Amino acid sequence: MSKPSCYAVFGHPIAHSQSPRIHQCFAAQTGITLSYKTIDATPEALSTTVHHFFTNEGGHGANVTLPHKAAARALAHECSRTAMRAGCVNVLTLLAGGQLAAHNTDGSGLVRDLSARHALQLRGKHLLLLGAGGAARGVAWQLLETGIASLTIVNRSPAAADTLADMIGDVARVGTRCWQDLATIGPVDIIINATSAGVFQQSLNLPTTLIGAHTVCYDLAYGASARLFLDWSQAVGARRTLDGLGMLVETAADAFELWHGLRPATEPVYQALRSTC
Ligand code: ATR
Repeated sequence: MSKPSCYAVFGHPIAHSQSPRIHQCFAAQTGITLSYKTIDATPEALSTTVHHFFTNEGGHGANVTLPHKAAARALAHECSRTAMRAGCVNVLTLLAGGQLAAHNTDGSGLVRDLSARHALQLRGKHLLLLGAGGAARGVAWQLLETGIASLTIVNRSPAAADTLADMIGDVARVGTRCWQDLATIGPVDIIINATSAGVFQQSLNLPTTLIGAHTVCYDLAYGASARLFLDWSQAVGARRTLDGLGMLVETAADAFELWHGLRPATEPVYQALRSTC
């Protein structure tokens, strides 16, 4: 019997990752046999560990998560448009000839979770994006492609927000504000928390005036990392508070489709994870 094709997720730490479970669920659903493991790689060891996985362990594809999303881009010989403009990647795929292709599925995963799973109308909405790091860069362009009316980017260090807005260049719809000015912008339709504050259990110190009766708050993280922002949002009256668990499943489905050419059904996997996360 031939060995199952081999996949992995690289991170540091990585033991908590749900990716092996998600990919095995997709595999069972589609009748594909594969192995999928976590690989804990320090930033210093990332390059050699990834190289070893693809050249010595029979790796076909890998997901990449914190803190390696920016560094992994440099390991690839080819970069998709989404990965290029985000400057960071979450999928590496082995090409014929042993080279690697990089892709970023964060933006497509977020948009599918917002619009298909949570039935949110994005067209015409005013969005506030908190953060301007890799996670924010991974989702900003796809949010704009849905036809939102405006995207206001706010970052603790304002220069990074300005840099992201300049990179996007859609001056009619994209602007930046200072964190200190958040109290002056009034309620927004949707707030996307793309900061890593929650990962470090730091609260964001946001003014309650951002939240109106119609405001939806979404955290790209899930579990304990999303709690502070979502608990705050709920306490100050947000209409809905949503975590990034659905986005995680959708981004995984994109990677699965890229590697196996089959689109898995995400809802049963999302529901199974929701009952335990
Ligand atoms: P990621 O890949 O998760 O986006 P990153 O590229 O290191 O990680 O970016 C982290 C983001 O969270 C940045 O926008 C960071 O703001 P700074 O650019 O000012 O560092 C933001 N962030 C992290 N901790 C924060 C906190 N306590 N309050 C506000 N923003 C925070």
